[in-house]
Amino acid sequence: MTDPRLETLRQALPTLRLSVEPSDLEHYGRDWTRRWTPAPLAIAWPADTGEVQALLRWAHAQRVAIVPSGGRTGLSGGAVAAHGELVVSLERMSRVLGFDPVDRTLTVQPGIALQAVHDAAAAHGLHYPVDFGARGSCTIGGTIATNAGGIRVIRYGNTREWIAGLKLVTGTGALLDLNRGLVKNSSGYDLRHLAIGSEGSLGLVVEATLKLTEPPLPAQTLLLALPSFEVLMQVFAEFRARVRLQAFEFFTANGLAHVVAHGGVDPFDARHPYYVVAEYDAGDDAQQAAGLAAFEACAEAGWVLDGVIAQSQAQARQLWRLREGITEAVARYRPYKNDVSVRVGAMAAFLARAQALLGDAYPDFEVVWFGHIGDGNLHINVLQPDGSDDAGFMRQCAQVTGLLAGLLAEHGGSISAEHGIGLVKKPWLGSTRGAEEIALMRGMRAVFDPARILNPGKLFD
Ligand code: MLT
Ligand code: ZN
Repeated sequence: MTDPRLETLRQALPTLRLSVEPSDLEHYGRDWTRRWTPAPLAIAWPADTGEVQALLRWAHAQRVAIVPSGGRTGLSGGAVAAHGELVVSLERMSRVLGFDPVDRTLTVQPGIALQAVHDAAAAHGLHYPVDFGARGSCTIGGTIATNAGGIRVIRYGNTREWIAGLKLVTGTGALLDLNRGLVKNSSGYDLRHLAIGSEGSLGLVVEATLKLTEPPLPAQTLLLALPSFEVLMQVFAEFRARVRLQAFEFFTANGLAHVVAHGGVDPFDARHPYYVVAEYDAGDDAQQAAGLAAFEACAEAGWVLDGVIAQSQAQARQLWRLREGITEAVARYRPYKNDVSVRVGAMAAFLARAQALLGDAYPDFEVVWFGHIGDGNLHINVLQPDGSDDAGFMRQCAQVTGLLAGLLAEHGGSISAEHGIGLVKKPWLGSTRGAEEIALMRGMRAVFDPARILNPGKLFD
């Protein structure tokens, strides 16, 4: 451990677990973007809140940049450490601290995996409804830092809706106990909500109290084949009018083909241009009949070419895999990911313009479209051709993102719906947030983190 700053850290915090092993630097210095070369100063694994506070006091005094680290499943570079930062992994702080049956809350440490939260809630007969494909690897702290969304937002909203309280250590090492699980609290600024989605720029979450709810009703899972993009929002409107949706997810034929190449099963005899996985409450015969009626109405209108209703849990999982397996199936192409949103009501108009724009802009690249269409959130993944040069590919993608940002500004949309701004979307933050708003964000960050040590260079920095 040769860096003199690390020696002072050792002296200040002799019990702190630290590593400068090349394999640790490589592993903890990157996230799922795989675009930056990891180059952290070291990796630290605090064991408790006291160690996080002491670590941040030291970093503040020494002016050492910190990258908070959860499951590093992020897709915007928010957890990348490529400039000599100290990565603070919350991996060792991964316990359930308590369950309150009256408040229906679960209090957890930040390093716990989303799947483990689901399991802990289920053990009490309850449900934590934020859910997405990376559930086994992502951590609660990371989902809070990005206000993560996922596949159930249409029913339950984003992470923000489910945080009853937060403990946050600021850039000076101060510990804030925010909202303390209260349902009603009209006592000034709600700093909890400022911290949610702040991408590690205001502090490190060291504890979260999560709201739980009843488990969902038994659901029907349906895979629909669609002839065109244009009918997508009509199919959505038809289903939403007749059933209580739990999810409504879309993907293109090439997305399905990638998943099938990785072992997914296509239940149709023929390939179709577009697909939807819909899931809706089907606790009784009337709800099941309503789903079938929606399907028949769409088929009669020519909006749906074919459909499969899952007959078992296993088949429902197979259908879900066709949508959820896309990220993993295309990962080897290190896709450039756009994660955009518009109001659901503006989606049809936005889709038509985006399709025309991207069709012209990306003639040489394979583009996989998928996403949470019922929330107005679209993922546009541009696959990097084998053997092409990284810098050239990224340059072209950035140019097109500039065009897309213009289109989003016209439609009142956002350049990041649920992945965060991080490093990848930083140049286009101004298409979604006004200059005064960004200036205020900077000012708030200076209050929480006067030495600018928390995740510097990201978001607006
Ligand atoms: C998803 O919806 O599958 C996630 O946001 C991940 C991704 O966009 O690849
Ligand atoms: Zn998503």
